[in-house]
Amino acid sequence: MRGGLTKTLAVLSAAGLLAVSACGNSDNNSSSGGSSSGTKDVTVFTWWADGGEKAGLDGLVSVFGQDCKDYKFVNSAVAGGAGSNAKQVLANDLQAGKPPSTFQAHAGAELKDYINAGQVDDVSGLYKDFGLDKAFPQNLLDNLTVDGKIYSIPANIHRANMVWVNPAVLKKANIDASKAPANVDAWIADLNKLKAAGVKAPLAISKGFAQEMLVEAVLLGELGPDKFKGLWDGKTDWSGADVTSALNKYKTLLGFTNADREAIDWPDALGYVNKGQAGYTLMGDWVAAQQLADKVPDSAYTYWPAPGTGDSFQFLADSFTLPTNGVDPDGAKCWLKVVGSAEGQKAFNTKKGSIPARSDANPADYPKYQQSAMADWKKDTIVPSCAHGAACTLGQNNDILSAMSQFSGSQDVAKLQQQLGQAMKTS
Ligand code: GAL
Repeated sequence: MRGGLTKTLAVLSAAGLLAVSACGNSDNNSSSGGSSSGTKDVTVFTWWADGGEKAGLDGLVSVFGQDCKDYKFVNSAVAGGAGSNAKQVLANDLQAGKPPSTFQAHAGAELKDYINAGQVDDVSGLYKDFGLDKAFPQNLLDNLTVDGKIYSIPANIHRANMVWVNPAVLKKANIDASKAPANVDAWIADLNKLKAAGVKAPLAISKGFAQEMLVEAVLLGELGPDKFKGLWDGKTDWSGADVTSALNKYKTLLGFTNADREAIDWPDALGYVNKGQAGYTLMGDWVAAQQLADKVPDSAYTYWPAPGTGDSFQFLADSFTLPTNGVDPDGAKCWLKVVGSAEGQKAFNTKKGSIPARSDANPADYPKYQQSAMADWKKDTIVPSCAHGAACTLGQNNDILSAMSQFSGSQDVAKLQQQLGQAMKTS
């Protein structure tokens, strides 16, 4: 773990990413999990409203119930993958001066939005109070530090570049599900075989961020990790012929997807795979948590890194903040203590599909998927996710999402290429 984090941190640092956090507050409060029975409310804003995501949150809540008895957990989750609805609600609440006690945000460029807007407090003192300066690798700490301060506490590390596969579907076209196609072209060849075998939409996909993740995976597979990183830190030219070629392959992939892609969220796309209507979906490893929550047996699915990206671990990290002028910051600090603790990270990550940010976890405590992710984290090249805030600000992401949704209809590669480059230049 320590070596992997070190690498990540180096990447974060190089990309100028590093900070963590987010925010939010809504009124659909409902208690969830745990036994929080205190009298003072701690409103926790996330987008983990259902399934495996809520199971992870419930893990944190149960530890909070034991360790923060003066406080009562109040669930301010707003449903919608990747915060597609939550982020706007949060922005409105912060703007209105009504922050939650704490909110979820991604480590990296996304956190900077909140820091620059003066919406989150420095929590570096808590790292000392909670012993996090010893629990997280020094390199992580160095890289979380912005102008001598740290603004959030990471709960986990997720992997974005994963494909989830139904072997029974692949069998219809005699495709070996146990290993990834060597590259995007080989994947396209398999998708053609599946179509010929009668699978109408072999690659399941959903709206918005899922399409952004697929285009990122194709760019990573086609350009390789160094040039891919350069797309986000300005060192790779978005107008290059290699980007055009990758975007054309993305267009081809989109031709194998479900027609209702603009109307569904990621759990629905995963459902198409589980029901045998599709062979694959590309999605982050919160899928492992969803499969666990839905009791899908290990034998019913498999997974591998997106074709051509096998040596890269495209990471993102969820973290929690201390909003400026929040009500009862002591309650929020108790939540943050749980988030950073060994017990909290274990309760959360064993259910969430992610691996802990702390360096003292025991892989044997984790399900099969996370054990493999922990091993990969140590040996792979670490690259950041744009869709999940490690490499891109909220503004950049919004512009990219808008370009992806236009492309879903227009299929205009030249326009998409121009808009993606523009998003990274201006927002
Ligand atoms: C990401 C978040 C993950 C997971 C995912 C899907 O942005 O970091 O923890 O919740 O969205 O909703």
